Amino acid sequence: MPLITSKANEQVRAIRALRNKRERDRRGVFFAEGARLVMEAARAGAGIETVLVVPERLRTRAERDVVGRARAAGASIVEVAPNVYDSVSFRGDPDSIGAVVRRRHDSLPERPAGELSWVAVHEIQHPGNLGTLIRTSDAAGGAGVILSGASSDPYHPVAVRSSLGAIFTQRVIETTPSEFAAWVKRYGASVIGTSPSGDIDYREASYRAPVVILSGSERVGLTKAQQALCDQVVRIPMVGSVDSLNLSIATALVLFEALRANQA
Ligand SMILES: C[S@@+](CC[C@H](N)C(=O)[O-])C[C@H]1O[C@@H](n2cnc3c(N)ncnc32)[C@H](O)[C@@H]1O
Repeated sequence: MPLITSKANEQVRAIRALRNKRERDRRGVFFAEGARLVMEAARAGAGIETVLVVPERLRTRAERDVVGRARAAGASIVEVAPNVYDSVSFRGDPDSIGAVVRRRHDSLPERPAGELSWVAVHEIQHPGNLGTLIRTSDAAGGAGVILSGASSDPYHPVAVRSSLGAIFTQRVIETTPSEFAAWVKRYGASVIGTSPSGDIDYREASYRAPVVILSGSERVGLTKAQQALCDQVVRIPMVGSVDSLNLSIATALVLFEALRANQA
């Protein structure tokens, strides 16, 4: 296929349209930008439909190999001029390689099957925080991230990039507060809320797996309904003048405490 030099090309426009959540939802795909993410998608066996690439900007053998692997797995390779790629890229991607990937539709498991931890959050606002939570859950041996209410989209370009590829391996489940509440009871996990005003120091809580770490939104914190689901609400003691930590940082500390407690 010849190199595409027009920003108005139909395939290019269809990929550019994936900046829009409605379009991502309608087509069930998202765009993952950067060589690292495309490699992680290929490694995880994600459903790569198309790879968009600027051949003259491929710098390393690994980047060329990933295009070959995606082609061998059935993806179509669309070669474009640098200015065409730049017109699609959300944040400017010096690698100039990106993939249109099919999203999975994960569901909440009926019963525990060896999971150590889950992160759950209601109405998270910032896609960067969400991507960081997905990445951190992966790093701490977690099973995935459960979102309820009007949460940020896990397939937003910023969330995908901040996940550093964990979006392809972690389960990401979007649900409603009432479905989530019914699920935690059925599943039988210990629910650990996190709040600056929690009543237990997070280093003294009990983390018998599986645990669901329930964090509040950036703006509102844990709601009353969420607190009612918790077996324990933990706080990370702070000594400075701020009244709270960043959501992803607070959740990360508790996730790693859960990992430590279950490794001991
Ligand atoms: C920016 S904070 C929300 C602040 C909100 N005003 C409140 O009082 O919870 C976002 C979330 O991070 C977690 N968090 C922040 N600081 C924490 C701390 N010191 N201990 C435990 N969790 C914390 C909580 O889940 C909180 O809902």
